[in-house]
Amino acid sequence: MVLPKKTQTELENIINTVIAECESTNDLGKELAEAGASQGTWISSLKQSAGRGRLGRTWLSAEGNLFLSVILRPPSDFQHWGWLPLAIGVAVSKAVDHVRPHSGIKLKWPNDLWVGEAKAGGILCEASSAPTANTKSYVIAGIGLNCVTAPTTDVKTAALGIPADELRPLIIDFIRSESDSLFRYGPSVLRDQYQERSLLPAGTEVEWTGTAGTFAGAVRGLGESGELLVSEGDAPDAKEIKLFAEDVKIKPRLGAGAKSPA
Ligand code: BTN
Repeated sequence: MVLPKKTQTELENIINTVIAECESTNDLGKELAEAGASQGTWISSLKQSAGRGRLGRTWLSAEGNLFLSVILRPPSDFQHWGWLPLAIGVAVSKAVDHVRPHSGIKLKWPNDLWVGEAKAGGILCEASSAPTANTKSYVIAGIGLNCVTAPTTDVKTAALGIPADELRPLIIDFIRSESDSLFRYGPSVLRDQYQERSLLPAGTEVEWTGTAGTFAGAVRGLGESGELLVSEGDAPDAKEIKLFAEDVKIKPRLGAGAKSPA
C-alpha cells in the first residue's frame, strides 16, 4: 500500500521530531527534502513497518532500536559523493564511543556498524535523482541501530545496550559536523578517521559478491573516491579491483569454525 503524500503542515509537524511509527524514515526524509528542508534536518520513528536496508534488503525495525534519517545538502560544487556514506559511519561510531568510550564499535566497509563479530547497525544513503529549480540535490542518510534488540537475520547481530533516546541527539550532532567538515575540507581528515575504525584494514582477507559472482582477495585500502581497493587473489602482483557497492565478507580462516561472522 502506498500512503498519500503528507501536506505542508503535516511535514512541518514532523521536522526534527521522533514520531510513533512510519513505513520508512528515509521516505519521510525524502518528502521533507523535496519540500525544501535544510542541511541537518532529521526525522526519527519509534518503529518502521517497511524499513529498507542496502542492496534491496528489508531492515527489521522493532520498537526500542533507533531509526533515523538526516537530510544532507552538499554544496553545488561537491565532488566527494563516495565519501559521504563513510562520513556518516564515522559520525555514528563517534557518537557511540562518546556514550561508551572504547565500545569496540567498528566500520565494515562501506558503513555497517559492527561490535565484535556481529552487526549492530547499518546506514542507507539515498541520493535525489536530479536537482531541479525547486529541489537542490540532497542525500538522505538513514541510520538503523540495534540499541536494545538484536533482530534475527542471516548475519549474526548484536545490540549495543544503549537507549535510542540517549544516542539520537549525539548521532545527529556528529552527522551534522562530519558532513559539514567533508563539504568544506574534503576527505583527507576523514580518511584517517575511517581507517582507525575499519573492521577491514589492509591485508584482511575478504570475499565479495557482485553481479559476476563471488571472488576472494585481500584488502589494500581505500581509493580516492572512498571505494574499497582489493587484490584479486593473493599473489604479490595480483590485479587491483575497485569495489563500490559490493557485499564484502571477511574470509573464514581454515579451522576457524564453519560459520563466517561477516
Ligand atoms: C543496511 O542495510 O545495513 C542499512 C540499513 C539502514 C536502515 C535505516 S533505518 C532508518 C532508515 N529508514 C530505512 O528504511 N532505512 C534506514
